[in-house]
Amino acid sequence: MVTTQGNFPEEVEQYKEELQDILNQYQEESVDGIKGFVGQLYKQEEDKKAREDLGEVLEKGIEKIDKRYGHEQSEIIDQMLGINKKEGEKEYKGEQTYQIETSYDTIKQMLDKTGPRQEETFYDLGSGYSRVLITGSLLTDAEYRGIELVKERVDESKRIRDRLGLENVEIMQGDVKELKAEELSDGDFFYMFKPFSVSTFKEFGKTMEELAERKDYTVIGGGQSNKWLKVIDTWDFLEEKGKTKDRKLGFYKASL
Ligand SMILES: C[S@@+](CC[C@H](N)C(=O)[O-])C[C@H]1O[C@@H](n2cnc3c(N)ncnc32)[C@H](O)[C@@H]1O
Repeated sequence: MVTTQGNFPEEVEQYKEELQDILNQYQEESVDGIKGFVGQLYKQEEDKKAREDLGEVLEKGIEKIDKRYGHEQSEIIDQMLGINKKEGEKEYKGEQTYQIETSYDTIKQMLDKTGPRQEETFYDLGSGYSRVLITGSLLTDAEYRGIELVKERVDESKRIRDRLGLENVEIMQGDVKELKAEELSDGDFFYMFKPFSVSTFKEFGKTMEELAERKDYTVIGGGQSNKWLKVIDTWDFLEEKGKTKDRKLGFYKASL
């Protein structure tokens, strides 16, 4: 259930009206409700213009809803994209698998700062319901890959990816502890937002150091991972490079 505050519902109505102009290019009927309208738009799956328009829809949502009314309103954007969060997911003992996600506004700030390009690959390690992958793939031309432990989240992410026709998104179910440095060797950006237990985080640092011996890359950490990147010794090969405007995410360079 999405909570509302202030004149939020009116703003949503205004937002929908503005979007109607974009949608009119694709369909005649009016939009009745937030849920599902993006899906209607994306009937034009083959059309690159549809992806650009969908990116525009998302950016407007970030500007008009998420940024203005607080990050808890990010769920409205999840609904627009059709993301259906499941309950009663299988438990994975020893790992942190609670549902908490980066707000769309913070994701946008991170993408503005990193600017992933067409030939680059961006990994979200612990990708949850794929907000980062979807946003990135709509707003940039880079390749996006997610690794996620919880099967239900992977299945839902794939469903949304296919529904929106996002060809530059790949999602794999797995445990980062089992990844080898060579499997990540196409990565230029590695994003971690409060993922993993502390012991997994520590262990995974060794894999990432091995990768740093082969190539330079950028790590982006959010929440507790941002703190851990500074204090856990297996990550001490990183050099700190700044923060997003809202100071929620930290940037680090791996260059040995
Ligand atoms: C806090 S969520 C972040 C989701 C997404 N990256 C975002 O920022 O919106 C972290 C995710 O990491 C996953 N996770 C936890 N331990 C993991 C592991 N060992 N391997 C892969 N994913 C893991 C959790 O299931 C959870 O969905």
